[in-house]
Amino acid sequence: MSNMHTSNTIDEVKSQLTKIREQGLSIGFVPTMGALHKGHLTLIKEARKENDFVVCSIFVNPIQFNNKTDLKKYPRNIELDMNMLQKEKCDLLFYPSEDEMLSTYQVEEFDFGGLDQVMEGKFRPGHFQGVATIVKRLFEIIEPQRAYFGMKDYQQLVIIHKTMKDNNLPVEIVPCSTIREKDGLAMSSRNQLLSKVERKQAATIYKVLKKTKIHSGFYTVNEIKQYVEAQFEKSKNFKLEYIEITDMYTLKPLKAWTQSNNVIACIAIQVGNVRLIDNIILFS
Ligand code: PAF
Repeated sequence: MSNMHTSNTIDEVKSQLTKIREQGLSIGFVPTMGALHKGHLTLIKEARKENDFVVCSIFVNPIQFNNKTDLKKYPRNIELDMNMLQKEKCDLLFYPSEDEMLSTYQVEEFDFGGLDQVMEGKFRPGHFQGVATIVKRLFEIIEPQRAYFGMKDYQQLVIIHKTMKDNNLPVEIVPCSTIREKDGLAMSSRNQLLSKVERKQAATIYKVLKKTKIHSGFYTVNEIKQYVEAQFEKSKNFKLEYIEITDMYTLKPLKAWTQSNNVIACIAIQVGNVRLIDNIILFS
């Protein structure tokens, strides 16, 4: 097993990575908030395939949580995470404290060109300003060639892509497929907060999304949304926040299928007290 190094300070990680760059080695980066699962490990594997040196960061970023309780109960398992990263042959873990990351840094005000006006942006005010601030900061510290993001957080992926382009940060953003449990539930750190019953019920989310894809050719956009709403009214454990059918690039909600050739359905739902998101590409 290779020996993973852990750095807690920006200065240390920067000096380690300067040495790596001086050897002409490429750097692949996987930013995370920890509580790692197979989805994250797939990102590490992809980074391993395409780069000489793999860096992962674990930082539960307080400035992207609009809800204090959500931040407090966000799962944290650093020992387990370190073991998993070590097994995946991650070369360097950057695990900074809040002070280290945020004491000398201001939340930036990015113009996302409207990408943040819908879905997660609408339901979690300030969320994407916090995400983009921290991702830009991490990219400035790590200076990777490539960075890996899961498709489950689809809106995040589109927004990060735009932010890095607008800010001329030379990082290739690599989207990676959502990894699912056997029953279809998208892997997420939040899944471990579900009770046994809720965990079983949560499989409905992807089942409904798959039906959405099949039905999309036969029903109107509105009918599809009504269909999804009706499915989640069947149990009081579900509280649907939104089902949105949007263009994949502008994220503009559609009223008719003819408005776009690249269409994705995105959902956010509370199962018990746990907020989950998922999506499915309907056609592209
Ligand atoms: O997707 C996440 O885990 C977080 O939003 C990220 C990209 C690590 C930024 O804190």
